[in-house]
Amino acid sequence: MSANNEEMVVTPWEVRGKIDYEKLTREFGTQPLTPELLERIQKLTGTLHPQLERRIFFSHRDLDWILQRYEAGEKFILYTGRGPSGPVHIGHIIPWIFTKYLQDKFGATLYFQMTDDEKFLYHDDFNLSEPKKWAYENSLDIIALGFDPKKTKIIMDTKNMGVMYDLAIQIAKRMTYSTVKAVFGFQESTNIGMLFYPAVQAVPAFLESFLTGKNVPCLIPAAIDQDPYWRVTRDVAPKLGFYKPAQIHCRFVPGLGRGGKMSASMPETSVFTVDNPDVAEKKIMSAFTGGRSTVEEQRRMGANPDICSVYSYDYFLFMDQKEIENLRYNCMAGNIMCGECKRTLAERVKKFLVEHQERREKAKDQFEKFLFDPKDVQSTI
Ligand code: TRP
Repeated sequence: MSANNEEMVVTPWEVRGKIDYEKLTREFGTQPLTPELLERIQKLTGTLHPQLERRIFFSHRDLDWILQRYEAGEKFILYTGRGPSGPVHIGHIIPWIFTKYLQDKFGATLYFQMTDDEKFLYHDDFNLSEPKKWAYENSLDIIALGFDPKKTKIIMDTKNMGVMYDLAIQIAKRMTYSTVKAVFGFQESTNIGMLFYPAVQAVPAFLESFLTGKNVPCLIPAAIDQDPYWRVTRDVAPKLGFYKPAQIHCRFVPGLGRGGKMSASMPETSVFTVDNPDVAEKKIMSAFTGGRSTVEEQRRMGANPDICSVYSYDYFLFMDQKEIENLRYNCMAGNIMCGECKRTLAERVKKFLVEHQERREKAKDQFEKFLFDPKDVQSTI
């Protein structure tokens, strides 16, 4: 059975099947991004990011509320994160690129959580050095994307737990076993670290408020699979006197294979930021497309961009509106063949990788500057 016919499963640990985003919005009880909201963002920021225009970010909670606060002169913080269990692939950086746009436009401080603890607890075969190593490696990718060092605080859970712990236990005290069991599907055999972990992922949403003693609104840009965490986080917020964090949710980037999201556990269908550009090119040249079995047939009948992994890359990252509209038209009309399309994408991905890898090298010297230091927060009060 192909991935596309499988039942849809979306949890923080597993995403499979054909994703129906409207159904997800209904099931998770989130709100769609309406044209009115987009217009409001455009007014405030002067531009509309392509990821909003294309509904790569497609749903939210309380975004209207946070914009209203902002319009009234109240700043918010941004919070996102990464579970460091392996190299970063191009799919991962999509919400981070968007987060940087939000940071630039709203002048917001960003808390970026590296959950080395979560990945240690989750993977049976990990010892602690593994996720710690990836936390460092993945941080270089974050820094390489150009976040503002003065406004970006990377939290390393195992390193920063000292400051986080007072808050974590206050949150944990208000989350019950029956709630996290129901929300995350925990089993009798689940280790108790995993049961506590949802409290840890809630911490950065409130950390600035906690440390400054001033209630600060928080907006979380993240893929929709993280939503269960925000549901339990929002539940405890009023019990601790904090605002409920707002969210804006994005889709998953498809892998280069047939159906399914890009996943680090399928290296042949993922482009990693540290891939040798020639290796990335090979992956793209053997990607699954929406083409026909012969050139003649494709010229006559056109191809199908909606199932094509190459098209989705162009759509998610590499083409502007005009280019993507042209490509869509020419693909469906049979004017362009898959080989040509793959070559265009491969060139762009290679260029991106070369530049990213250069910035990533430079990030090594900047790493310390990005690490969360509670003293910096307290000194801004
Ligand atoms: N649990 C996330 C993961 O496995 C990591 C994470 C922590 C995160 N805090 C976050 C992701 C906030 C998005 C937003 O990838």
